[in-house]
Amino acid sequence: MARFPIGEFKDLTTPFYFYDLALLDRTLAELNRASRDDRYHVHYAMKANANPAILRRIQGAGLGIDAVSGWEIKAALEAGFKGSQIVFAGVGKTDSEIILALENGVGCFNVESVPELEVINDLAEGLGLVAKVAIRVNPNIDAHTHAYITTGLAENKFGINLEQLPDVIEKAQSLSNIALEGLHFHIGSQITETEPFIMLCERINGLLDEWEAKEVKFKTINVGGGLGIDYNDPDRHPIPDFEGYFRAFRNHLKLRDYQQLHFELGRSVVAQCGSLITRVIYVKEGTTKRFAVVDAGFTDLIRPALYNAHHRIENISSPNSERHHYDVVGPICESSDCFGKDELLPALRRGDFLALRSAGAYGEIMASQYNCRPLPSSYFSEK
Ligand code: LLP
Repeated sequence: MARFPIGEFKDLTTPFYFYDLALLDRTLAELNRASRDDRYHVHYAMKANANPAILRRIQGAGLGIDAVSGWEIKAALEAGFKGSQIVFAGVGKTDSEIILALENGVGCFNVESVPELEVINDLAEGLGLVAKVAIRVNPNIDAHTHAYITTGLAENKFGINLEQLPDVIEKAQSLSNIALEGLHFHIGSQITETEPFIMLCERINGLLDEWEAKEVKFKTINVGGGLGIDYNDPDRHPIPDFEGYFRAFRNHLKLRDYQQLHFELGRSVVAQCGSLITRVIYVKEGTTKRFAVVDAGFTDLIRPALYNAHHRIENISSPNSERHHYDVVGPICESSDCFGKDELLPALRRGDFLALRSAGAYGEIMASQYNCRPLPSSYFSEK
C-alpha cells in the first residue's frame, strides 16, 4: 500500500486529489529513458490532467503537448510550453481556436475532415501564415478496450477512413496555406496488450510504402497515445511498461531516416501519481449489504459511473483492522454513484480516509459541479 501523509490530511476538507510528485518525476524519467531517440517526440495528452503544477513538471521534463481545445493551448502556454511543441487535435476545432493556434505557431494541426482543412487554409491565408498539418487516419484497428474509448474503428467519428485518404491528401496538397507534414493515428486508450500497437505499425508501414511509390513523403508520423496502466495493482506497477511500448514501435515500424515519430501519451504519464482522498461519512447497514457512504461522488471521479471502471480502494486510516465487505458509494442522488461493490476492506469507521488509487488521469479534469458540489481541490507530496 502506498504511504500517504495522513497526519497532514486531518485538517483538509475532503474530497481532494493528492499527487505524488516524486512518482511523477520517476515516471517522466523512465519515459524519457525508454523513448530516447532523436527522432522520437513525446507530446503529453493534457486532456488527462491539466493541473498547472502537473503541467509545469511535465514541461520541465521536456515533453511537448497534445491539446484538444483552445483552452488547453492557453493553459499549456501558461505552463511554459512553446507553441511549436504543441500539436492541436480534435474533430470540432472552432475558428477562434484555429486562429489562436495559428497565432501561437502550434507545431501541427491534426486534421480530421476536408471542411476543417479548408477552414484552416482560409484562416491561415488571412493571417499570412502557412499551417502545418497532419491528417488523422482512421486505421480501422480494434484496440480491445472499452467501447467508449475505442477510437480507431471505421464506425468512430474520428479521422479519415482509409478509402477516403487519397482524396484528402490530394486536397491538402492543393491548398496554398497548408503544409502537409504527416499522418496521425490513435487507436484507443487503456490498451494493455502490445498487439494492437504492432497492428498499427503494420498498417502504417503499408501506407508509407503506398505513398512513397507515389512520391509523397511524410515528415512526421504521429501514433497517438493509448498505453494502459495497472488499475488493479498500482503499487506493483507504479510506472507503466514504457520500455515494451516503445520497443513495439522500434521493432515494427519502418520509420524512414527523414521521419520523426510523435507520441501522445496521457494516462500512462499521470494516472498512477494521483489518488482521490475521501472520508467515510456513514457506515450504513442494509438488509443484505453494508454500505460505506463517502464524501466523494461521481462529480469528483466519474470513471466508475461512466465507463464501469474500477479504481483500487484503500482504507488508509486503519489498514490493519479486520476485513469486511462494503459497497463504497457517494452522496449523489443516482445509483451509478458507486465506486465499488462488495469491496473487501479493513473495517471502516466514520471519519476514516479512503484513497481511490490510479486517479491522476481523467480524474480531476473530468470533475463536474452536479448537485452544486464544489470542484475537488488538489494537494501535492511536496509543497
Ligand atoms: N491522442 C488522441 C487523439 C486521443 O484521443 C487520446 C485520448 C490520447 C492521445 C491520449 O490517450 P491516452 O494515452 O491517455 O490513452 N476519459 C477516458 C479516456 C479518454 C481518452 C480520449 N482520448 C477515461 O477516463 O478512460
